[in-house]
Amino acid sequence: MHFDIDKIRNYFPVLRLEIYNKPLVYLDNAASTQKPLQVLMAYEKIHNDYYGNIHRAAHYMADRATSDFEAVRKKAGNFINASSEKEIIFTKGTTESINLVASSFGEQFIRPGDEIIVTEMEHHSNIVPWQLLTIRKGAKIIKLPISDIGELQTGLIPELINAKTKLIAVTHVSNVLGTINPVKQIIETAHARGVPVFVDGAQAVQHLPVDVQDLDADFYAFSAHKMYGPNGVGVLYGKEKWLEQMPPYQGGGEMISEVTFEKTTFSEIPFKFEAGTPNITGVISFGAAIDLLTEIGLANIAEWENSLLLYATEMLKSIKGLNIYGESGKKSGVISFNIKEIHPYDLGMLLDKSGIALRSGHHCADPLMKYYNIPGTVRVSFGLYNTREEIDRLMAALARAVEMLK
Ligand code: ALA
Repeated sequence: MHFDIDKIRNYFPVLRLEIYNKPLVYLDNAASTQKPLQVLMAYEKIHNDYYGNIHRAAHYMADRATSDFEAVRKKAGNFINASSEKEIIFTKGTTESINLVASSFGEQFIRPGDEIIVTEMEHHSNIVPWQLLTIRKGAKIIKLPISDIGELQTGLIPELINAKTKLIAVTHVSNVLGTINPVKQIIETAHARGVPVFVDGAQAVQHLPVDVQDLDADFYAFSAHKMYGPNGVGVLYGKEKWLEQMPPYQGGGEMISEVTFEKTTFSEIPFKFEAGTPNITGVISFGAAIDLLTEIGLANIAEWENSLLLYATEMLKSIKGLNIYGESGKKSGVISFNIKEIHPYDLGMLLDKSGIALRSGHHCADPLMKYYNIPGTVRVSFGLYNTREEIDRLMAALARAVEMLK
């Protein structure tokens, strides 16, 4: 594999920062990623050259903005191999994508007494929208449990599914454990019993190749800001057959065909789900992030990040009293850990002062914290620009912090 790490790091000037007089080591990529020049330049270019509202006016500025915006819809569809760009809805992020499905699919298909299977390793944003839906509809959430090494107990799925099961919601990659879930197999099991599957891809699409047709996912959601793109932009992929049957999520401009005070008819998909002026500049600059990921290649990124994962795991395991949560053989570049008797917040604070940016806390996954009976973890999460030297810096900073907190 030729992975030109120096070239890649040069795309991200922010990585040259010093904080507290120490070189920045950014290891909080599961929360959000830094932005490359390509994205920053695209954002500036739109404003300098052709900014206008989309899908509305016929002037040059609006036309050009519209065609660039729609080109990114096609690009995002190709990125996950959707069969048509009609199946790509722009939202403000994964959370909004999930809320859209919970609200709109829920309105159409969930009845009192119905059940939705949600896994124990979900981020709150793939739990709470389903909970709100079940409260509205008098339906029920059924938990799919995990095992101690942080894998889903997928063998239980056939037992959990019954005539009332209307959906399974599962994350592709856990934001805490790094586990890459066997979503293709889960979808196969669910479909054999007539149950559709929603996949939260927020921690997956930037780390491994994703093909929604191969997975046969009914819905798949992700966020631009975790893919080196701007924040405030997300994607919801939905199979046309579902999107056609679902009512609009929000009412407003551009999602209508005709409005009278008696009745409104709605636009075609995907526009039916995009009320109001969308994040035009965000979506267009997101296109530059997709181009970059495509140019480097997701398989190359996966290989690079996996080598970082293996190296860091080995180094961390050499620290006495350090416990890693999530030891599946199939992991993405996320390592959550605690060191005996040291609170994760204390460790996180001291590491920050050494220039190491990572997240400590519950990572918006309280049920998972309850499973392990811990208040939180320290979490290292890699991006494509991280290096072994940065892991060495982390290890040196960790050794100093542990010495101080002992
Ligand atoms: N979901 C993001 C994380 O895991 C914010 O940090």
